[in-house]
Amino acid sequence: MGVISQDVRSGAKPDRNLALELVRVTEAAALAAARWVGRGDKEAADQAAVDAMRVVLETIHMDGIVVIGEGEKDEAPMLYNGEHVGDGSPPEVDIAVDPLEGTRLAAEGRPSALAVIALSPRGTMFDPGPCVYMEKMAGGSDIADLLSLDRPLTETLGLIAERRAGTADPDAPDLLSQAMSWELDGAPMSDDNLLSFCLLMFAAGLDTVTAELAYGVRHLATHDRDRQRVVNEPEIIDDVVEELLRVYPIAMTPRVALEDTELRGCPVKRGQYVVLGLAGVGRNEADHERATEVDFDRNRLPNTTFGVGIHRCVGAHLARLELKVAYQEWHRRIPNYRIPAGAVYTECANLTLGLNNLPLEWDLPTPAQ
Ligand code: HEM
Repeated sequence: MGVISQDVRSGAKPDRNLALELVRVTEAAALAAARWVGRGDKEAADQAAVDAMRVVLETIHMDGIVVIGEGEKDEAPMLYNGEHVGDGSPPEVDIAVDPLEGTRLAAEGRPSALAVIALSPRGTMFDPGPCVYMEKMAGGSDIADLLSLDRPLTETLGLIAERRAGTADPDAPDLLSQAMSWELDGAPMSDDNLLSFCLLMFAAGLDTVTAELAYGVRHLATHDRDRQRVVNEPEIIDDVVEELLRVYPIAMTPRVALEDTELRGCPVKRGQYVVLGLAGVGRNEADHERATEVDFDRNRLPNTTFGVGIHRCVGAHLARLELKVAYQEWHRRIPNYRIPAGAVYTECANLTLGLNNLPLEWDLPTPAQ
């Protein structure tokens, strides 16, 4: 990656040669390091990149000083902080280099290692001073004595778990404390099952509420009357949340067919996946008038936004609360907003629907507001 700072607005011709020279610098470093990719020797890969970068830098018409380099002079023989590079002719520039960012990635044959150089006019580059790499581990005072960088992390986690075993309060009201004493088929839940449960809770609560909010906010940004009601009638907020959930259900539920069957003429074989669109209930025109329209005065029409049956959403109440707080707080601070004319946004459809982006613009409240 080559970066050059230059004021092209001044009308001065961009100095394209210098920028291209920089590309050659990173190219040389990358090609040299490439010979060491996957060979398990990160020092050698780094050294190859440094050597190659240094050789090409020497040939460039510039008077450069390395501001951010490989380290201080006594610890880095080449490209050290303060080293002069280039052939000494103008322009005078400051330079930052990282011949091989991701030495371990390169050594292990993994992607994303980079060769980096940046230039700016002399005296303008921020000099962070000497930097040190630190390995750190943080934890509460109750486990501080167990933290050690010399021991494998999994062992340390095991020690923490042992110390905490027995300190969990099964009567504590939170879900995870309760889960510690759950049984599955008459036996205590295994650690693996508990971990799966935690991961499911994490994943299921992660993008669902944000996706739902995106559709809700998009609706309110494009329906002034509804938005004004959210702003001016705080007492209807629960109905707002329910109605937006009904009209914009974001989840689809996959199921595996247990036997050969037929759905409206479409054959489904045992073992095949069927994805059920939950919108089919709440937005069904055959059941509700103007089913796809938002109307906060409806008396909470039946819907399946949170699913049905034994897998119905465990987080439904939490989700409703999060949505309620989000709509309330947003509209308290930003009552007037809209999607800018001509703005483009896209939708993504996996098992959860969502918006990839939602451009909004809003008016700053006047001081009196
Ligand atoms: C607007 C937000 C949300 C929507 C629309 C939603 C929707 C759903 C739906 C439709 C299901 C049923 C899946 C199926 O039958 O296969 C489900 C299950 C689940 N949801 Fe949510 N969800 C939301 C938020 C949350 C939150 C915040 C959490 C937890 C923090 C959560 C945790 C779960 C869990 C653990 C399940 C699996 C339940 C089981 O399989 O027994 N959800 N959700």
